Amino acid sequence: MSRVPTAVLMSGGGSNMDALLQAAATPGYPADIRLVVSNRPDAGGLAKARSRGVEAVVVDHRPFGANREAFEAALQDVLAARGIGFIALAGFMRILTPGFVSLWRGRMINIHPSLLPRFKGLDTHARALAAGDAEHGCTVHWVTPELDDGEIIAQARVPVLQDDDAHRLAARVLAEEHKLYRTALAAAVRSLTAAAP
Ligand code: GAR
Repeated sequence: MSRVPTAVLMSGGGSNMDALLQAAATPGYPADIRLVVSNRPDAGGLAKARSRGVEAVVVDHRPFGANREAFEAALQDVLAARGIGFIALAGFMRILTPGFVSLWRGRMINIHPSLLPRFKGLDTHARALAAGDAEHGCTVHWVTPELDDGEIIAQARVPVLQDDDAHRLAARVLAEEHKLYRTALAAAVRSLTAAAP
């Protein structure tokens, strides 16, 4: 089976991206992660990707102002030029337009730090604590135009402990994210290649 040319899109520290790059370097992994894109020039993940020998490109959203379509056209140019066939969003903190999402529908997944459909959007850990939930976690899902709403591929759960604050809870969830995302990306890419004629 040929490996699927894959890009990881991120905006910050890139610990999920790094976990995916480590997985992609193991024999038989179905995603060939050949590109990392950040919308922020100061993202720490850029240096991590380069240190693993993976091309890391900045498509800064700020010069485009409120013109999301123009930003996404620039992003699409970068992806198309590298023959990318699959996208993993990993802490990519830009909302994508329905146009871009439909272009990549069925070929783009995201990781979200909650047990969807609970706590879509931001501040998920503080919200789980405020709600008094006994359990929290993370979800990998297909990306659809509605935010954090697509079909769920996989979830991982952690207990919420008595003395948790949002920081401690986030760290426990993030450790699970790293394990979950590598298996979920592999499953998503394999489901595509299995469905191909
Ligand atoms: C992760 O917790 C990821 O689930 C979250 O941002 C963090 C990125 O960390 N994503 C979202 O909140 C998307 N809405 P990382 O840069 O260390 O992977």
